[in-house]
This record gives sequence, C-alpha cells and structure tokens, in this order.
Amino acid sequence: MMIREIVESKHLLSCDMEIPGKAGRVGPFTMIIFGGAGNLAQIKLMPSLLQIFTGGEMPADFSILAAGMPEYSDTGYREFMGKAVRKFDKRFNKAKWQDFEKHLFYHAAGFEDDAGYEMLKQRLRSFGHKGAAGKKKNVIFYMAVPPSVMPLIVEKLKAHNLSRGEFASRVVVEKPFGRDLESAHELNTVLTSAFDEGQIYRIDHYLSKEPVQNIMFFRFVNVIFEQIWNGNFVDNVQITAAEDIGIERRGPFYEETGVVRDMVQNHVLQLLALVAMEPPVSFRADFVRDEKTKVFRSIHPCEKSYIRKCAVRGQYAPGKIKGAAVPGYRHEAGVARDSVTPTFFAAKFYVDNLRWAGVPFYVRTGKRLRKRVTEICIQFKQRPLRIFGKKCDAMEPNILTFSIQPDERISMRFGVKYPYSENQIYYTNMVFSYPQVFKTSFQPPYERLLMDVIRGDQSLFVRQDSVEAMWDVVDPIIKEWESHPPGDFPNYKSGSWGPAAAMELLARDGRKWITNGGTAIV
Ligand code: BG6
Repeated sequence: MMIREIVESKHLLSCDMEIPGKAGRVGPFTMIIFGGAGNLAQIKLMPSLLQIFTGGEMPADFSILAAGMPEYSDTGYREFMGKAVRKFDKRFNKAKWQDFEKHLFYHAAGFEDDAGYEMLKQRLRSFGHKGAAGKKKNVIFYMAVPPSVMPLIVEKLKAHNLSRGEFASRVVVEKPFGRDLESAHELNTVLTSAFDEGQIYRIDHYLSKEPVQNIMFFRFVNVIFEQIWNGNFVDNVQITAAEDIGIERRGPFYEETGVVRDMVQNHVLQLLALVAMEPPVSFRADFVRDEKTKVFRSIHPCEKSYIRKCAVRGQYAPGKIKGAAVPGYRHEAGVARDSVTPTFFAAKFYVDNLRWAGVPFYVRTGKRLRKRVTEICIQFKQRPLRIFGKKCDAMEPNILTFSIQPDERISMRFGVKYPYSENQIYYTNMVFSYPQVFKTSFQPPYERLLMDVIRGDQSLFVRQDSVEAMWDVVDPIIKEWESHPPGDFPNYKSGSWGPAAAMELLARDGRKWITNGGTAIV
C-alpha cells in the first residue's frame, strides 16, 4: 500500500502533513553512482532504484550514470547489472528491468583521473533532461565507494566545478563518517569545502525504518504521553539492538570498526535521541536535527572511571544460533585469532537536562545474540500501591515498548484486575501492530532514502554537527578500550544475551533488561 493510500485510509486523521507524492512529483535528475559496479550498487542501490521505478515514482526523465574502474560499455554494464539485480532481488521483474535499463549508463574512469571528470561533465551536459525553467539540472553524486577514496572524489568534483558549478548538485555519503571525532571533522572539512551542508545527505538507514520514524509522531501527536515523558514518571529507558547474525563476510572491515563505531555512534544514539529530544519547532529537517544534536551534547561525558563502571564490552565465542553451531568471532574469515575487537556493547548513559536528569538510558547492541530484535522500552515508575495488600510487592511497572524489528509494533503494559479474584493484579499488553493495522509490508530502507534524496528532503539524513556530537559521546569509550585491551575475550557465547557484565550493569541498579528476559512483552 502506498503511503498516500494509508494516510487517506480510515486509519489516519487528516492533517496538513505533507503526503509524499507518486509519479511525476519529482523533477528530472541524473544520479552518478561512484562505485557503480560495486557491491552496494548491486545489492542495495540498483534493486531499490528499480523498485522506485516499478512503483511509478520516477519522473519520465531520469538517468543513472554508474562510474567505476572496470571497463564496461553502456550495454555491457546493463547486462552485468541486470544479472546482479536478478540474483539479489527476489522481486526482479524482467519486463520492468527492460524499461528501466534504458536509463542506465556507464562511465569508466579512475577516481584520480582528471580527464575522466571532464568527460563526466560532458556526459552530464548531454543527458536529455533539463532543470525546471531557469533552473540548473539536478545531479546527485552517490558515494558507493570505500571511505578512503571518498575525499579524493569530492576534491575532484570541486576542482572540476561539478559540486557547486553549473549543476544543482547533491552528494550522498555512507557511514562510516570518520573513525573518530578528529577524522570526522577532517572529512567534513573536505565535504563542506566542495558542497554546502544543504547539499550533503549522510545516510543512517535506521532513520528510514517506519517504526523509528513513528517515535516522533507517537510522542508529539498524543498528548497523554508527552505529559509523562520525563524523569518525574519515567524510571529508565532501555534500547536493545540485537542481531543474531555474525559479521558475515566483512572480517577486515569489522576488525577496523568494532561494534561502537559500527552501531553505537550512529544507529543506537539516533534511537536514543528520538526518545529523549524536545519537540522540534516543526518536522522540517533542520529543526529536528537541532533537537537531536542537543540530546547528544547533553549526554553525560564518559570519563575513565565512569566507563569502567558503566560500559560493558564483549566478543562472541562459538555457540548455537537457531540450533546450528556457529564459529566464534576469532574464527571468522579475515579476523585475527587473538583479536580484541568488541562485537557487543552495553552502557548506561545519562542525558543531563531538565527533562531527563537522573534517568538511566541503558543501551545494548551486539552480534550473534539470542535473536534479532530491536526494541525501545520506556519503563515507568511504580506507584506505591499498598492498597492492594501484599500482592503489591510483586507489582510490575508500566512499560511502553517500541518494537522496531522484526516485529513492528507499539505495546503498553499495564495491570488489570484478575477476574473473580479479590485483589489480584494481572499484567497484560495493549498492542498496536503496523502490519495488522495498515497491511503494510516491510519497505527496504534504501528505497525510502533514495526517494528522499531525489526529492531533496534531508529530514532522514544526519547533519555534521550531530555526527561530531555522537563521536564526542563514544570517542572516550573507544579510546579507553583500545588502550586497555580486554583480558577475557571471547566473553559471551553465540546465541546468548551477551556477557554476564551486561546483566550486572542493570542488576546493580535493581533492574533487568526488559527485552527478552525482564517483564515479558506479549
Ligand atoms: C549496519 C552495520 O549499519 O547495520 C551492520 O554496519 C549491521 O553491521 C546493520 O548488521 C544492522 O542493520 P539492520 O537494519 O539489519 O538492523
């Protein structure tokens, strides 16, 4: 079901929210994919572009120009990419592909090759589409290349007047945005010397997940929740982003990265910000990003003694996932046998502002955990309900849970009277399920994000000050851990919920993880 149909269905009240349009709403454009023959292009970008085309959301006049080192002609590239998309995308439709591939072109050149950029410019000029009357042509540069190559390409685009010159250009960059605060800052200096912030689209694919986007709607649409969204009523917030997969075939990448750079610096902190942020002036990209950045800047600084007490690292040992034996991290391809790279992270953060002072935000994420589940639980304070007699000792708190994946739902846990008992409380959940209500099916993140880039909507993209503020939060942890290698790795079995220390982190505060373990959610 398309978003417009959902909005217009009986499930949503009408409002002046801007409803994304279908075909014809976006203007003509050319997208240049650097690394256009690489993995990201084959597995994510091209299948998503094909789906957008199939859904009728592309303008009549668009071109996709893949740029890369391998030598292909336009026809050779179409053949190569057609095979790849057929392999990686179950929804492949031959007839649609045949229409779509007419918009595909290839430009073979080395990334340092100046003549190549001049030829690229000529090709961009030659493409049929024009910007709207009196406007420049829309050109999108997508960096599907390793981070080490990106600065070079950006500098060349600037030198050849492709970033701010005759075209209305945008640039899309993938994480990692640097390795630490310093390198993120350097990268930004390169990017902003060529492009203005309004032209830069930094992807965090978590922001495109519907249940993630819904957090803001839920908070700011429903008056009953906003009133209790603070330390007077909230006891603690828990964020779990658990994966059952290992590092797959990304050994060398992961060895360089580790869980903090891979998941915490971006996805997990973004989730935290959506829960903790103040209402933005409006949903305009910059207003939302202002509020998120304030949250990152309010997170209590992680000093060494704090890190030792309040952050937990782990690395997976062999174990079983869904009954099948899996190797430990140190036995994955491309990983050192004595690697100290963490694959699990848990921590307690505090957001030092008036709304959240004293409320712990417990977060955890890791590979090869018991199951794939991403959830945010808001646990409310308990009432001193002595009126129920002894039974109140066993009282459970109210819990509001945003289930992001694999289930997409919101549930509220609350107590009711157990029928025909004198004063027994029974805990149950009120559940809203996305698929049940809207009959939606999962939309791959890249489709939404690519469409937003084409439309020029930056709301779901990360601004540089947020990127740097997030590095500010995690940098001390990474530095402390890298300078004090762990003595106990591997310290959790694949298929478990992570190291014992992650349970102790909450147990010390008299709490437990809610997601799978604590108070059961339906
Ligand atoms: C990516 C990380 O950004 O997010 C991966 O690099 C991780 O290591 C992935 O597996 C998780 O995304 P999702 O959408 O499957 O939760």
